[in-house]
Amino acid sequence: MSSIHLEAKVGDIAETVLLPGDPYRAKYVAENMLEKASCYNQVRGMLGYTGYYQGKRVSIQGTGMGMGSAAIYINELISIFKAKQLIRVGTCGSIQEELNIGQVILAMSASGDSSENARNFSGMHYAATADFDLLYKAYTAAQHLHIPTQQGSIFSTNTFYDDDPKRWEVLQNHGTLAVEMETQILYTLAQKLGARALSIITVSDNLCTGAAATPLDREQSYSDMMKIAFELI
Ligand code: HPA
Repeated sequence: MSSIHLEAKVGDIAETVLLPGDPYRAKYVAENMLEKASCYNQVRGMLGYTGYYQGKRVSIQGTGMGMGSAAIYINELISIFKAKQLIRVGTCGSIQEELNIGQVILAMSASGDSSENARNFSGMHYAATADFDLLYKAYTAAQHLHIPTQQGSIFSTNTFYDDDPKRWEVLQNHGTLAVEMETQILYTLAQKLGARALSIITVSDNLCTGAAATPLDREQSYSDMMKIAFELI
């Protein structure tokens, strides 16, 4: 059996799945960091691979950008393919001036503007929260690897291009570290469907200062984030 958006067969996908937004990131990691990687999905170009990292079986699946796209893959990975640990590895825009390009953030919680959550929770404001065990392990692993991390809340939005220049001010004033586009629905669906989830994200641009990552920054910081994620398999 496969699912609507993943042509894998049940059993082809590991219990731990890493989730980059970009399917070509999945391909790059599979080809350069995993052993014996094989591609299990090409439907809609949303590449997914299963391989081994230091002998441990792991999958890596692109989600696309935004909560609508990510929710499709997260639902199918947990419900059909029985994924138990879902770890987002992606980028974010920081909304705190002192958070520099390349900073790795372990997202404790994600507020956001998911219309799916707005509808499901009927006006209540659900606090989408990371799995504590994964968060604790990621924090400890980062310390051992001497990779500095920030822990805190982030905001997931479905709108990348917005006209309001003051859009993030109230979040800044309430200690939100960064904005990205997937974590709120990842944490919500993992809780609902009985899996563990964590987002490990790297600052690719600072929305206060206008600073943006160079290709070298991206490569270095991506490898820090992946080192932490691999410790969680
Ligand atoms: N907005 C939303 N998601 C992002 C951004 C941003 O500015 N930067 C990286 N991911």
